[in-house]
Amino acid sequence: MGLSRWRGGGIILLAVALIVVLSLPALCTAAANSPKKDGSTILLFLGSDSDDNRDDGSLPDGEDGPSDSLQGKAEDAPPEWDEFSDSQDSPRTDEDLDSGSWSQVLEEPSIWDSRNTKFALGIRKMVEAVDEEDPRMLNNAIEILRSEAVDGNAHAQSTLGFLHWMAIGVPYSDAKAYLYHEFAKEGGNPQSKMALAYRHYRNQEYEKAVKLYSELAVITMTSFVSSREGPLLEYVRLNYGLEESKDVRKRFRGEDDDDFQFLEYQARKGHPDFMFQLGVFYYYGLRGVRRDHSKALFWLLKAVEKGESRAFELIGEIYARGYGVERNYTKALECFKAAADRKQHSALNGIGFLYIKGQGVEGKNYTKAREYFQRAAESSNVDGFYNLGILYLKGLGVEKDYARARDLLVDAANKGHSKARYYLAIMLHKGSAGMKKDLTHAAALYKLVAERGPWGRLMRQALEFYIKGNVGKALLLYSRTAELGYEVGQSNAAWLLEKYRGRICIGSSGICTTEERHERAHNLWRHSSEQGNEHASLLLGDAYYYGRGAAKDLERAGEAYIRAKEKHSSQAMFNLGYMHERGLGLPLDLHLAKRYYDEALEEEPAAFVPVTLALTSLWLRQHYSGSFLVKVIDSLPDLQTNLEEWWNKMTVDELDALLVTLLMSLLFVVYVRQRHRQEYAAAAAAAAAPIPMVPPQ
Ligand SMILES: *[C@@H]1O[C@H](CO)[C@@H](O)[C@H](O)[C@H]1NC(C)=O
Ligand SMILES: *[C@@H]1O[C@H](CO)[C@@H](O)[C@H](O)[C@H]1NC(C)=O
Repeated sequence: MGLSRWRGGGIILLAVALIVVLSLPALCTAAANSPKKDGSTILLFLGSDSDDNRDDGSLPDGEDGPSDSLQGKAEDAPPEWDEFSDSQDSPRTDEDLDSGSWSQVLEEPSIWDSRNTKFALGIRKMVEAVDEEDPRMLNNAIEILRSEAVDGNAHAQSTLGFLHWMAIGVPYSDAKAYLYHEFAKEGGNPQSKMALAYRHYRNQEYEKAVKLYSELAVITMTSFVSSREGPLLEYVRLNYGLEESKDVRKRFRGEDDDDFQFLEYQARKGHPDFMFQLGVFYYYGLRGVRRDHSKALFWLLKAVEKGESRAFELIGEIYARGYGVERNYTKALECFKAAADRKQHSALNGIGFLYIKGQGVEGKNYTKAREYFQRAAESSNVDGFYNLGILYLKGLGVEKDYARARDLLVDAANKGHSKARYYLAIMLHKGSAGMKKDLTHAAALYKLVAERGPWGRLMRQALEFYIKGNVGKALLLYSRTAELGYEVGQSNAAWLLEKYRGRICIGSSGICTTEERHERAHNLWRHSSEQGNEHASLLLGDAYYYGRGAAKDLERAGEAYIRAKEKHSSQAMFNLGYMHERGLGLPLDLHLAKRYYDEALEEEPAAFVPVTLALTSLWLRQHYSGSFLVKVIDSLPDLQTNLEEWWNKMTVDELDALLVTLLMSLLFVVYVRQRHRQEYAAAAAAAAAPIPMVPPQ
């Protein structure tokens, strides 16, 4: 008797717990989401794959070494080593390399006023109009841009292409967007080239994508030599799950940042460690601080005076490059040696370069250069891998060895070294240096390189706008980067649209309707999801599953969850199990369902309660199919919406059980959220602690 009573209560407990489980997919998508991993995983695959064709690649055509066949047209290609370039030509600026970028119009109005007044006026009006949600002003801006575009202004054409793609102030038209970008590309707008390259890449037209991305990668490599801003670009994700990432406001406010001001205060008080850190901030332009080599040198020298030897290497770099000081190779060598003597292995690269250039040392000596690069590589220095890889690739100071070159470059590329990625991309593109021709991977690598190009400034500027509270401007700039193929830009723009509902969105005519807003966000999430953003894939899956922002479509929901699952999303695995268990959008398959539930638990031990409940329901379904209990389980999703009504029909005893169960389930949900908060806080603390010495390129 007691047992059966328990059973009766148990069923209710189970039923109620299941309701909570059923509502978990929505709850967990908000909470359960880990930061995205870098897109460099393709390279890991590449590393192991290439062993198979170690020797099958014929030597590149011609006896004159790989350099010509590696780089296509030699005169277009950047030099392999730009370090300490001794050319006295004034370097090409971002203005030349990224002509017609909105960044320049917004940052340096005076330059543009003298050159191309009407285009600049149109851009500024457009940006203001979107920020102030003023469709009339926007129309005015578009009129200006249109008349400029008709006169053949490539930059105005590029902007119109964007507006048609996003349906801002003009009707949506993919065809018009394409056409405008084609014209603009021919007219020399590099951002249109980016937009087209990304378009081809998405459509898996790799030949076309490779062609455009390789040209853009060359510009990017050139910008590494010349850029005043430097190759360091931090692409900051605004959101963490559905919430704003706490990092954003805390860490990227430049000189206004509390942390930065604390640093400066301590440095002024004479702490060598803080002096050094401040120098690093200025040298690389970290976290929204503007790059300033004079200030960097000032603080680094002070740090060295106080005995902070870590500053030697950067001082050496400053002298070797002649950044804001008269170039002095002798001094550079002294500093590099001082740093290397103190076990700062990256400084060995600097000495290696001086031997490559034959500056500040007895003379050019590739053997010596190789020795230094090798020592750097032996201490796992990424630049060491890259430099040594290039020597093996070219046979400088060593016997040419493509297999070694490739392994070294893959190591460097996997650690995010853009130049290494560039050389691997060329090798895959041309099928040279022992690599099999592989346009798919070549395109992916070129894309990663091209995204470090000068147009990435838009991302930085968007962040600055966001932090200052100009959300509309931030959204517009992120949207532009979304069109250029930046996953973080796509995700940020989508998140802003959802976070700042009822503001900042101008549709094809007037303020966005709810549908327009949803559709725009949905499209952006889709792009981001395709590029491997797990959170975006989950949101996309939910959107299709519940019909939010897109027509309800269970099959597509399944596809999106599968993408998220591939990124090890436990929530997606759970959802897939659920869909297989009920045959929703995916074939009814209880075995597969069980496998997904098990995987979800394996991936995320905190999912123990929902997974156990789901497995129980699955077990009931397998053993008592057609029974009353299974019918109850099946009707739960509908009951969920009528919870109120259901609630009223409960007897007092049942209600007690219900309350207890609900409480427990709620505790669990709170626990999951709490846990993710803690993980997040831990990750943020870890990220905040060390200051990167080597700029992630
Ligand atoms: C370069 O530095 C060395 C050593 O610090 C110094 O002796 C020399 O005078 C400097 N050369 C110039 C041109 O400043
Ligand atoms: C270059 O360095 C190597 C190794 O240190 C040395 O044996 C060789 O003589 C040097 N060559 C020249 C031309 O100085």
